[in-house]
Amino acid sequence: MSENTSSPTLKAREIIVAVCGGIAAYKVADVVSKLVQLGAGVSVVMTAEAIQFITPLTFEALSGRKVRTSTFDLVDTSDPQHIGLTERADLMLVAPATSNIIAKVAHGICDELVSLMIAASACPVVFAPAMNNRMWDHPVAKENVSKLNHIGYRFIGPEPGWLACRNVGQGRLSEPQTIVEELKTMLTAPNALPPVVGQPQPRAIKPNV
Ligand SMILES: Cc1cc2nc3c(=O)[nH]c(=O)nc-3n(C[C@H](O)[C@H](O)[C@H](O)COP(=O)(O)O)c2cc1C
Repeated sequence: MSENTSSPTLKAREIIVAVCGGIAAYKVADVVSKLVQLGAGVSVVMTAEAIQFITPLTFEALSGRKVRTSTFDLVDTSDPQHIGLTERADLMLVAPATSNIIAKVAHGICDELVSLMIAASACPVVFAPAMNNRMWDHPVAKENVSKLNHIGYRFIGPEPGWLACRNVGQGRLSEPQTIVEELKTMLTAPNALPPVVGQPQPRAIKPNV
């Protein structure tokens, strides 16, 4: 048995994991598995580019839920999923957050399911970026990240270290365990839940049942 299953700290928590098209997408499978082991209900959404890196099947097996990949493919109800899913969720994690998704959110673009869901989100959104160090250091990317930070989105990482492009620099996805620990704190510590961007009041966390 995993050490996590003995402590279902995230029981009754609903988390959306939005996977984007970066090489670190494979590490997000581990994040999903760890969240599920902690008792969370995890719904995965993926960009079309994410599917180039890892299959929806992997996330379906790990989460036990259907993976959503299209704005127009209504999976389990006739509700638009970009509205209903985030209304039921406690938090949405975007990982790996690409330079592209960060730029789209910073400019209000919602041309596919993940960016649309972030724009329509009724829950806090947390980005875990991963990209080449030059992409991360680009002044436009810096401006986009700073804008998102300023309006209330939270970031986990990225870390310095070895990058998939065989460079060493800032841009490495935080380790899955680090991401999970940070989410755990946000979802369980008093007053630690990030704000819902665009909404005046912090959301109350549901009690564990
Ligand atoms: C092999 C490979 C690795 C990539 N890794 C990253 C990455 O780590 N971070 C990133 O921002 N973009 C990366 N890209 C570029 C994105 O896939 C591309 O910008 C894509 O349009 C992102 O789409 P999405 O944000 O909708 O998922 C990579 C592309 C390739 C071909």
